[in-house]
Amino acid sequence: MFIAFEGGEGAGKSTQETLLADHLAACGHEVVRTREPGGTPAGEAIRAIVLSPEYEGLDDRAEALLFAASRGEHVARVIRPALERGAVVVCDRYIDSSVAYQGAGRNLGMDAVRELSLWATNALLPDLTIVLDIDPEIGLSRLHSRDRLEGQPLDYHRRVRQAFLDLAAAEPARYVVIDATQDTSVMADQVRAAVDARLDAR
Ligand code: TYD
Repeated sequence: MFIAFEGGEGAGKSTQETLLADHLAACGHEVVRTREPGGTPAGEAIRAIVLSPEYEGLDDRAEALLFAASRGEHVARVIRPALERGAVVVCDRYIDSSVAYQGAGRNLGMDAVRELSLWATNALLPDLTIVLDIDPEIGLSRLHSRDRLEGQPLDYHRRVRQAFLDLAAAEPARYVVIDATQDTSVMADQVRAAVDARLDAR
């Protein structure tokens, strides 16, 4: 099973990923926890380029291509092999981050950016995507420092949030949206319930 976590900045994704990974491991699953951009040495090198303030002004299309390149490498070397041996993959961000940040945030077009990532990954989509939803004003205020993307104007982050909500609304069977202003333990219960329901159905 392939589970992706998505959402804006400061939504608490990593805490929820840890709690879910611990729960799945306690249930006897092999859990592969990974992240984008990154997940392989080449992917981490790409991550350093796209997030570094050193490359302020990086062309929007170049940025979209770099995220897609990192994703292609990640799927080929980490995610597909893990799924093939029966592991549960918990991934911090996936295709929808590109659709939301580059497609909607940078106005490159959600469909075009989605197509790019589908090509890069041979069309691998998550079985379940968990969107941790938060008002960007609240999310950004939770951060201690900001990288190149987090430093974008509020409007950009609002478009990103709306894109995640639209993607989830279009395919309710593959998504769950969780209010990220709730307590950590309440969110964790909701995440676990959504995942366990899907695992039980298999
Ligand atoms: P990261 O430090 O991992 O942020 P977070 O903890 O919020 O996940 O940085 C990832 C940043 O890259 C984040 O601002 C979202 C952005 N991003 C994209 O713009 N497009 C993408 O395809 C991905 C995977 C991430």
